[in-house]
Amino acid sequence: MKVTVVGAGNVGATCADVLAYREIVNEVVLLDIKEGVAEGKALDIWQKAPITLYDTKTVGATNDYSKTANSDVVVITSGLPRKPGMTRDDLISVNAGIVQQVTENVVKHSPNAILIIVSNPLDVMTYCAHLTSKLHRNKVIGMAGILDTARYRAFLADEIGCSPKEIQAMLLGGHGDTMVPLPRYTTVAGIPVTELVSEEKLNAIIERTKNGGGELVKLMGTSAWYAPGAAAAQMVEAIVKDQKKIVPVCIKLEGEYGINDCYLGVPVVLGKNGIEKVIELKLNAEEKALLETSRKHVKEVMAVLDGLTAKA
Ligand code: NAI
Ligand code: 2OP
Repeated sequence: MKVTVVGAGNVGATCADVLAYREIVNEVVLLDIKEGVAEGKALDIWQKAPITLYDTKTVGATNDYSKTANSDVVVITSGLPRKPGMTRDDLISVNAGIVQQVTENVVKHSPNAILIIVSNPLDVMTYCAHLTSKLHRNKVIGMAGILDTARYRAFLADEIGCSPKEIQAMLLGGHGDTMVPLPRYTTVAGIPVTELVSEEKLNAIIERTKNGGGELVKLMGTSAWYAPGAAAAQMVEAIVKDQKKIVPVCIKLEGEYGINDCYLGVPVVLGKNGIEKVIELKLNAEEKALLETSRKHVKEVMAVLDGLTAKA
């Protein structure tokens, strides 16, 4: 199996590294527009192989898409990250241009690849890649839900004083302040989370999760990469190993949850065909209202992209 990661910055290089050291695929191609950066990072990852013991071949390329030909999966991380004070939506015009150009090149050389989008604003960059690639919606998948639930699970593990491995959680909606963590669908070793954490603490953890990306931007002056890179690699693994993994990802909704033509995070089954099934949870009135707020927000940002496309 061959995977290309476009963008050899913080998230892309981390994703490539996880794919290599966990031997998820045979070959990883790392591509960037900056001369030499992808080649250098790919060589560095390859030189780590004799130390941490793996044989996944990593190669780099400066804007040479012929090296990415016939990839099974392509992860798109190219684009600007958030700086302090910026929202994900501020990134839209710059990153839409990058994602469009990258997607065109990727699809030309790997027409059968499944695309995983990471660039922000995530839901709308997934829309951009879907429009550009003209692939089936099941093959253009946005990464955010795995990261957002991981943050939620990590905060819960701290609060409960247990291993993060014990916490299962689900989340809906856009990647941003309107995301919808679902305490009703959160368990700790099978125990409903509400039996272990007070409502007040749970609400505080949900708020912290919603601002989880911003918290790290404030601390580091740029956005996160270890968890995002690992989350994208987990999606690659589910696809190339046909794991039928149930995870929240961003997809174009076509009637599910009563929503049409909007790119939102929902639970899906992820396997060799990309998204193999969208799982529809039964939501209560409060959850439905929160999802509706998230839908409206993503639609507004999708309209910004539509405006840019119309002007071009
Ligand atoms: P970074 O700045 O470290 O890396 C981005 C890389 O993209 C740079 O090396 C740059 O040269 C490259 N690039 C720019 N234009 C390109 C083009 N046309 N072709 C190929 N490469 C190109 O940024 P970082 O931290 O890796 O973040 C990447 C993106 O992922 C950002 O948009 C960020 O907001 C987003 N992100 C999304 C997350 C999510 O949950 N979906 C989580 C974390 C980051
Ligand atoms: C994150 O959530 C900024 O989307 C990026 O870390």
